[in-house]
Amino acid sequence: MVEHCPFKAGVLGSSPSRLNPPARFPGKRGDVPARLLDGAAIATAIKNELEAGLVSLKSQGVVPGLAAVLVGDNPASQIYVRSKVKTCEALGIYSERIELPATTSTSELKRLVDELNARDTIDGILVQLPLPPQIDAKTILLSIDPSKDVDGLHPMNAGKLLSGRPGLVPCTPAGILEILDRSAIAIRGARAVVVGRSDMVGKPVAILLLHRHATVTVCHSQTRDLPAVTREADILVAAMGRAAMLTRPFIKPGATVIDVGTNRLSRPEEVKLAFHDPTAALEKLASKGSVLIGDVQPEDVREVAGAFTPVPGGVGPLTIAMLMSNTVRAARLRRGMQ
Ligand code: GUN
Repeated sequence: MVEHCPFKAGVLGSSPSRLNPPARFPGKRGDVPARLLDGAAIATAIKNELEAGLVSLKSQGVVPGLAAVLVGDNPASQIYVRSKVKTCEALGIYSERIELPATTSTSELKRLVDELNARDTIDGILVQLPLPPQIDAKTILLSIDPSKDVDGLHPMNAGKLLSGRPGLVPCTPAGILEILDRSAIAIRGARAVVVGRSDMVGKPVAILLLHRHATVTVCHSQTRDLPAVTREADILVAAMGRAAMLTRPFIKPGATVIDVGTNRLSRPEEVKLAFHDPTAALEKLASKGSVLIGDVQPEDVREVAGAFTPVPGGVGPLTIAMLMSNTVRAARLRRGMQ
């Protein structure tokens, strides 16, 4: 199964060019491998830096607290929430995992958020998305106290981001900027193309890159001649939730490619279409039952890009590290500490 496919005309199974790229897209030099941007290592560095701050907070009697709310039994969401709570435990951040049934109503969930807003031991509230269809996600996000909005999705924090004021910034976009900065990728003056316009990733990362003086284009499912636009990108952010959609013709040779996609393939036909050489992935499928792939074709990006984030091990670990960072930040800000 391919999770969440907003793009109607996908690449999987639809384009012969992805298997036999035309000669006019020669790629980079075959002998210079693209630099792998190790998100796991960067996330570890960030978490290590947070630990020092947490020790100092503890000495002042402050233990930051995160409430992670999961509604329903979406398996991917269960894994994400478990991983967030586990990371809190490893760092000494107080955490609560709150699980509600899939039948929960908007008003029931809002009551829980109101209660968490009022609890002083809770500095951050994360309501894992997506929510079941009967719940109005916008109402819920609006009900979270902006000072505890560690996802940065409340309109108050979105407005602060847009207008360049300090606030809580969505975790994945903040993590992408950390990857670029800590890998010494120049942003100022770069042509950046973001594919995907979600409130959680596409829009905020475009704003962050704009604030850092990139020339930013946001593409989406209605963009005409997408490869012509993405091939302009010095920094290409793929965040559309479409397995291996960005292939060789979409990538400028030498570009930095940030792959936000986490698509789970569970059928051999999907794996064969997504990978040029599917041997290892098919073995993984047989042993694990599914294979994770990003929005960028993994073999092409290695050959064409200058630097790239792998899936898994690229952007994913940063999302959790930045959630920890936002929780610590919220704990400080709520107490008037710097
Ligand atoms: N679902 C997938 N990623 C996220 C995230 O960063 N925050 C929330 N709340 N839900 C998600």
